[in-house]
Amino acid sequence: MNVYEAIRTKRSLRQFSQRAVAAEDLTVILNAGRLAGSSKNSQPWHFIVVQDRPRLADLGQCGPWAGHLAGAAVGVALVTGDWRERWPVAFDLGLAAENMMLAAHELGIGSVMANIYEMERAHALLGLPAELMCYAAISFGYPLEPEALARPPRKGGRRALDEVVHWEVW
Ligand SMILES: Cc1cc2nc3c(=O)[nH]c(=O)nc-3n(C[C@H](O)[C@H](O)[C@H](O)COP(=O)(O)O)c2cc1C
Repeated sequence: MNVYEAIRTKRSLRQFSQRAVAAEDLTVILNAGRLAGSSKNSQPWHFIVVQDRPRLADLGQCGPWAGHLAGAAVGVALVTGDWRERWPVAFDLGLAAENMMLAAHELGIGSVMANIYEMERAHALLGLPAELMCYAAISFGYPLEPEALARPPRKGGRRALDEVVHWEVW
């Protein structure tokens, strides 16, 4: 799968089969995150791999739309320092997250982000040091329905090119 094809076809997946993700595939996914670019090459991330079912279920309670983590084969919590002190960190984490999800897509593994709102709860259940936080996590797993991995976007699923691109000036 070439890069643009992967970008074009990847859809968020929220329902996963029980099939386990092989260790070598998980390593590819984690390396894709590790290899992302970051502001000043700061690489401000840690990735906590969560496979324990009760812990996944708990993490899924840490955001109003994070419940899909409970059914994921693997969750990856994105952990960093306080991004409000250094806003490019949010970009950095986003690049790492998208790299991981695209690498997973090529392997036939679905994924979806979860914003973490209950950060103190996530902090406790992930055993984080005081200076680190978890703002987001990603669910990974094989799809319950294979075609769901690359289903067409919903109508109006993306804004049109001429609506979002401006040439030279606004
Ligand atoms: C930063 C970010 C946070 C997101 N948070 C959630 C979330 O908490 N729960 C969820 O189900 N999906 C979440 N998503 C997935 C988006 O809802 C999804 O990407 C969007 O609706 C487009 O759908 P598609 O990825 O299937 O094309 C998030 C996506 C991003 C980029």
